[in-house]
Amino acid sequence: MNPTIAIIGGTGLATLDTLKIIRQETRSTPYGEPSSPLVYGELGGQPVVFLARHGQHHTLPPHKINYRANLWALHRIGVKQVIAVAAVGGIRADMDPGALAFPDQIIDYTWGRPCTFFEDHLTHVTHIDFTEPYCPELRERLIQTACALKLDARESGVYAAMSGPRLETAAEIRRLERDGCAMVGMTGMPEAALARELGLRYAVCAVVANWAAGKAAGEITMTEIERNLVGGMEQVKTLLTQVIPGLKPV
Ligand code: HPA
Repeated sequence: MNPTIAIIGGTGLATLDTLKIIRQETRSTPYGEPSSPLVYGELGGQPVVFLARHGQHHTLPPHKINYRANLWALHRIGVKQVIAVAAVGGIRADMDPGALAFPDQIIDYTWGRPCTFFEDHLTHVTHIDFTEPYCPELRERLIQTACALKLDARESGVYAAMSGPRLETAAEIRRLERDGCAMVGMTGMPEAALARELGLRYAVCAVVANWAAGKAAGEITMTEIERNLVGGMEQVKTLLTQVIPGLKPV
């Protein structure tokens, strides 16, 4: 039987060394190729499938990711719940690098990305409800487990989805802050909306990789991002190993 739980790994999590790999599968979809093969395995004794959002060698920038193919491939094999891991920049004062964050809302500032499955061959126009963009039950499980493990976790916040691949200007971050955003990333949309269109339960575990532009002195460097992600991703792996066995089948 195929797994019903998927993990989408982001920057800093192109492979999951805690996963006991069983097999890999390259799939194609009506929307093209997913970012990486689907890696089937076991985590905490539970079957899961892992997909590397930026490719297995981290070569796909955020605006080139085929989000539709990724979500479609997972849906097609029978996935019902998706934990999406993503690196973000910290905007809110408590979003210091290395922390985990579980966004409860999102604002989509991306442009030019294919963002829906509902555009061709429609019998009627479809608008999904997106009032709560993340699955409340799945978020709650993640938060409770992170707290029980005493991980360095922030329980809510608005995620600003930017197109990238460049980082933001300080003025852009001030604007996002005025909009109420707590963190900023480049892959949150259309991933979350596509998951909802397919009826998947979807929640994000973000890892703060850096202070967002203008929130700390000096430039943001890839070295800094990579360094902060190492510790953050160790927390993510601990969390995943603990949370996944307790997820109820849906
Ligand atoms: N901005 C946008 N996306 C990001 C950042 C950032 O500062 N850090 C990691 N992903």
